[in-house]
Amino acid sequence: MVTGGAGFIGANFVHYWMEQHPNDLVLVVDALTYAGNLANLDPVQQHPNFLFVQANICDTSKMEQLLREHQLDTIVHLAAESHVDRSITGPDAFLETNIIGTHSLLKAARQVWITEGRCAQHRFHHVSTDEVYGTLEPDDPAFTENTPYAPNSPYAASKAASDHLVRAYHHTYGLQVTTSNCSNNYGPYHFPEKLIPLIITNILADQPLPVYGDGKQVRDWLYVTDHARGIEKVLLQGQVGENYNIGGHNEWQNIDIVQYICREMDSAFAADPTLQERYSQAASAIAGESARLITYAKDRPGHDRRYAIDAHKSGQELGYRPLESFETGIRKTLHWYLQHPQWWQSVMDGSYREWIAKQYA
Ligand code: NAD
Ligand code: TYD
Repeated sequence: MVTGGAGFIGANFVHYWMEQHPNDLVLVVDALTYAGNLANLDPVQQHPNFLFVQANICDTSKMEQLLREHQLDTIVHLAAESHVDRSITGPDAFLETNIIGTHSLLKAARQVWITEGRCAQHRFHHVSTDEVYGTLEPDDPAFTENTPYAPNSPYAASKAASDHLVRAYHHTYGLQVTTSNCSNNYGPYHFPEKLIPLIITNILADQPLPVYGDGKQVRDWLYVTDHARGIEKVLLQGQVGENYNIGGHNEWQNIDIVQYICREMDSAFAADPTLQERYSQAASAIAGESARLITYAKDRPGHDRRYAIDAHKSGQELGYRPLESFETGIRKTLHWYLQHPQWWQSVMDGSYREWIAKQYA
C-alpha cells in the first residue's frame, strides 16, 4: 500500500517501484485532495499489478479492509498535507491528515497485522521530513538522526507528531516500523506551488518569480528518484525501529537556485528555436532575460533559515548515495516541464480537477 501515491513523491516512488519490482502488487490509496492528480499515475495505470483506491487515510475501517482484502504486507506512508505556506494559513487540515490520519493508519496496521495475526513479517514505512529538526545557522553541523526535534511551522510540528506516533507504535505494540527523514525533493510531477516548479512554470508564463525575504535561506535538494531509491534501501535493508536521514548533499540558497533556473531556461530557449513557438508568451526567456522576472516578496512567517542533512547513517548502513547532482537533476526537471505543458497547464488552470471528477462521476 502506497498512501499519497497520486501526489508528487508518491507517484514518482510508484513509477520507480513498479519498474524495479514489476511482480509486486502496488495499491495506491489517495484522497485526491488538491495535491493529488491521477495523471501522475498515467505511466503505471495499465500495469497488471497496479490498483488505485480513492480513500481517506482517516477512514480506519477502510484501511483495515484494504489490508485484509489484498493481503498487503507493506505500507509506504506518504499521504500528507505538505506545503508549509498552506500550514501557516490553515493548520487544521495538517493536524487532521498528518497526525490523525497517520494514527488511523497505524491502528489499521496493528489491528490487521498484529491483533488478527495476518502478517507476522510486515513493514510500516513512514516518510517524513528534515523540517522536524528545526532550523540551522550557516555554520551549524547538518541534521543527524540524533538531532533533537524542534519543529517551527505547523507543517513541521504535525510531521514531528506523526513521527513520534510511529515510534510509539513500535515500542508499545511491536509494529515493525521504519522512518525516513528527507530533505527538499524536486523533479517531475511537482505541484507548482513549491519553489522549483513555481519558478519554472512562472518563467514559461512570463510571470514574476517570488523570492521570500532576502532569498538567502538554504535548502538541501534531493532529486525525487534518488529519494525513491533511498526508500527502497530502507525497505529492503533498514533495521526495524530505526530512522534514516536521506539527503542530496546539495545545499543551495534560494536566490542562487532561482538565478540558476533562469540561466538554464535562457540556454534551453537559445538552443531550441521550436520552444519560442511553443511558449510564445515566455517573452523574458525568449529574450534571454528570465532573471528580470525575479521579485523579492514579503518573507514567510517563522521562515527556517537553513536545512541540511547528514546522511552518513544511510550511506554506511544501507550503501545509499544519491545519483543526481543538482545540475543534472535540474536539467532533467526543466526538460520534463518543457515536454509536458498539458500536465502543468491543467494544474495551473484547475482543469485537472474536472478530469478527476469525471473519472469518479
Ligand atoms: P504532495 O502534497 O504532492 O502529495 C500528497 C498526497 O497525499 C496527495 O496525492 C494527496 O491527495 C494525498 N492526501 C492528502 N491527504 C490525504 C488523506 N487524508 N488521505 C489520503 N490521501 C491524502 O506531497 P509530496 O511532496 O509528494 O510529499 C509526500 C510525503 O513526503 C509527505 O508525507 C511529505 O511530508 C513528505 N516529504 C516531502 C518533501 C518534499 O520536498 N516534497 C520533503 C520531505 C518529506
Ligand atoms: P518550498 O518549496 O515551499 O519548500 P519548504 O518550505 O518545505 O522548504 O520552499 C523552498 C524554499 O523557497 C523556502 O525557503 C521558501 C522559499 N520560497 C520562495 O522564496 N518563494 C516561493 O514562492 C516559494 C513557494 C518558496
